[in-house]
Amino acid sequence: MGPTLLAVESSCDETSAAIIQDGKVLNNIVATQSVHENYGGVVPELASRAHQQNIVPVVTETLKNADIDKSELNGIAYTQGPGLLGALLVGASFVKAMAYALNIPLIAVNHMQAHILAHFIDDPRPKFPFLCLTVSGGHTQIVLVKSHLDMEVIGQTIDDAVGEAFDKSAKLLGLPYPGGPLIDKYAKLGKPKYSFPDSEVPGLNFSFSGIKTAFLYFLRDQLKLDDAFISENLNDIAASLQHALIQMLLSRLNKASEKLNIKEIAIAGGVSANSGLRSALQSTAHENNWNIYIPEFQYCTDNAGMIAMAAHYQYLAKDFASLDISPNPRMKF
Ligand code: KG4
Ligand code: ZN
Repeated sequence: MGPTLLAVESSCDETSAAIIQDGKVLNNIVATQSVHENYGGVVPELASRAHQQNIVPVVTETLKNADIDKSELNGIAYTQGPGLLGALLVGASFVKAMAYALNIPLIAVNHMQAHILAHFIDDPRPKFPFLCLTVSGGHTQIVLVKSHLDMEVIGQTIDDAVGEAFDKSAKLLGLPYPGGPLIDKYAKLGKPKYSFPDSEVPGLNFSFSGIKTAFLYFLRDQLKLDDAFISENLNDIAASLQHALIQMLLSRLNKASEKLNIKEIAIAGGVSANSGLRSALQSTAHENNWNIYIPEFQYCTDNAGMIAMAAHYQYLAKDFASLDISPNPRMKF
């Protein structure tokens, strides 16, 4: 029997805990913090305080749901970075104390690697080497995944993340945070009538600051002509913005697949929950003969199940952390 591990995720605005046994996620609990909705973005200090309130009940509940006693744990994993320093500190302090008390190994997980390893929670699992488009609120990357623990970023955004482009544009439309899922919802009811420019960035890199500005000016000009422009055209505006962002993502992914001649293609991270991206990926896969891997919704946005999956492979590789390790808000891999 493989290891039984507890994993904790606290990098941003979700407090989550999961139990994995022999590579199988037995339970995964996510407490989402609604406190940020009124602020148009995550407020770091409020996130840390909410993690502090949530962490004990969330860990207690996942142990209970999985029917695992803490004495049965072989190790404890947590998100070491990237993320918000204060939020990471809450998770790190909690797991260090618990690992010390139980005298079991501590496993420091990279959040972005974990988003990719979410693909190994259930079948079908991608075959190595594969490409993963990792799209979240803080990152936009194309990653060449050579094995569970050997990954290389081959393209990334030079400014904003695509999730930020969704959220900030949604804010301009007067929608609450996080706006990405709402853009998705309205886009389903509209048509991509308006176009926005792609950015010229070399190689496999992305840039989303141009489209954000173009969107701002577009709304400003349209509102001058008709001050009810947003409310009258919300669905078409959302569909147009979403279409443009998806095209930007897929054009780079296509380029990467051609360049490396890899047809095993996965997506990961919060934005991979986007229904437009999921269906556009399916059509592209059909045209290009790709085998595509799209995570289940619960494993797209931040969750400890993916941290637990990464921890499983790190445990097998004996990749343990010492108790004096500090969180790393800008952690790379
Ligand atoms: O991976 P994640 O939960 O947290 C980070 O690590 O950042 O990603 C959160 C991001 C937010 O920007 C959110 O708006 C976006 O994922 N997101 C979506 C959808 N669901 C979540 N964006 C577009 N469409 C969605 N359905
Ligand atoms: Zn994430």
